[in-house]
Amino acid sequence: MSWWRTDVAWSGAGVAWSGAGMAWSGAGVLVGLAGAADIPAMLAHMTQPLPAIAIPAELLPGDGRFGSGPSKVRADAVAALAAAAPTYLGTSHRQQRVRSVVGRIRSGIAELFRIPEGYEVALGNGGASTFWDIAVFCLVEARSQHCSFGEFSARFAAAAAAAPHLEAPDVLVSPPGSHPLPVATDGIDAYALTHNETSTGVCMDVVRPSGAEGLVLVDGTSAAGGMALDPLAFDAYYFSPQKCFAADGGLWLAVLSPAAVERSERLVGGGRYVPGSLDLLAALESSRKDQTTNTPALATLFLLANQLEWILEQGGLAWSAARSAASSGILYDWAERSALAAPFVADPAMRSPVVATVDFDDAVDAGALAAVLRANGILDTEPYRKLGRNQLRIATFPAIEPADVEALTACIDYVLERLAD
Ligand SMILES: Cc1ncc(COP(=O)(O)O)c(C=O)c1O
Repeated sequence: MSWWRTDVAWSGAGVAWSGAGMAWSGAGVLVGLAGAADIPAMLAHMTQPLPAIAIPAELLPGDGRFGSGPSKVRADAVAALAAAAPTYLGTSHRQQRVRSVVGRIRSGIAELFRIPEGYEVALGNGGASTFWDIAVFCLVEARSQHCSFGEFSARFAAAAAAAPHLEAPDVLVSPPGSHPLPVATDGIDAYALTHNETSTGVCMDVVRPSGAEGLVLVDGTSAAGGMALDPLAFDAYYFSPQKCFAADGGLWLAVLSPAAVERSERLVGGGRYVPGSLDLLAALESSRKDQTTNTPALATLFLLANQLEWILEQGGLAWSAARSAASSGILYDWAERSALAAPFVADPAMRSPVVATVDFDDAVDAGALAAVLRANGILDTEPYRKLGRNQLRIATFPAIEPADVEALTACIDYVLERLAD
């Protein structure tokens, strides 16, 4: 391996996913070694002046936003927000105008995921990162197991490891570009999966580990709305709205099973100290009234409701998942055909349909490539900042037009030819 950066460490208490000769250590377990021989050369050419390459207008995508979150917001949604603004923005979140938007979000999510009888949709402020803390207080009873295969899955494991009221978590790690599978284990009361690891572009199926009795908690932040799943396979599917739901960040949403609600009632009602802002039951109570416990960002709620309804009108999750799969397929097929590129994720079954990661040959400076694209209005194709690979990372969320992804590949080819000159 030649791509680990020496100057970064993905870490949290007891869990690190890092460079400098070691990688993906979970709870003290060292799982990989990285050669760093050509890192100085890789970093050196990042300092070269940017080649002046102008991509012809006819090659450019209609919309240049390919970031993995915050991600492209549809122009129609922004126009609808502007039209609604005089009676919506700057009005009370306790009144019907805003509560009706929250109600549309809750019923839209229930419809999109076809949630079973008894499951509930909750939301609150703080994003998926806050939900990890909520889970540590309100969903994990004593010991969790984590499939840790990138920055975000490692962060939840770190949150559990740092919680003084919990036992040390069981952290399963796998080499970057792959994912581990959860293993039913005695004493584990919560299994933490990540439907799509945004930092690496690795996805996993959401399935209950066979024979497991614990709750299944799934981070769906970048998958939700762009990847299908069986709602009976999880107890909490939580996400932020700045990915497939094409809104802004700052909010968490969670689909909760009756078992998850019952667990919270037992833990919160059973005397465990829970900070008020992390109280899942309080959030659920507010959500049932189509409110949030404290003040939400109204524009985010509006954009989320708009995107949800757009996806539902187009055909729901089957439609959006097929669209994202088609868009990412364009990229993976292009990378496989290219002499200079290859999909980062070796196993096609683990290749994300919503965040495609493409590695480049050492002859190509992917940093310069992303910079040239940016200078031409094609934004946020850089790899996850701590991954440090010679790579592009491209979101293929439902709002992104497959034709724009096709155009992007032509632009990359155009720049590659000129960078080689
Ligand atoms: C998979 C995953 N989980 C969690 C998060 C954290 O979400 P937020 O920044 O909204 O708290 C992210 C953010 O990109 C993510 O991609």
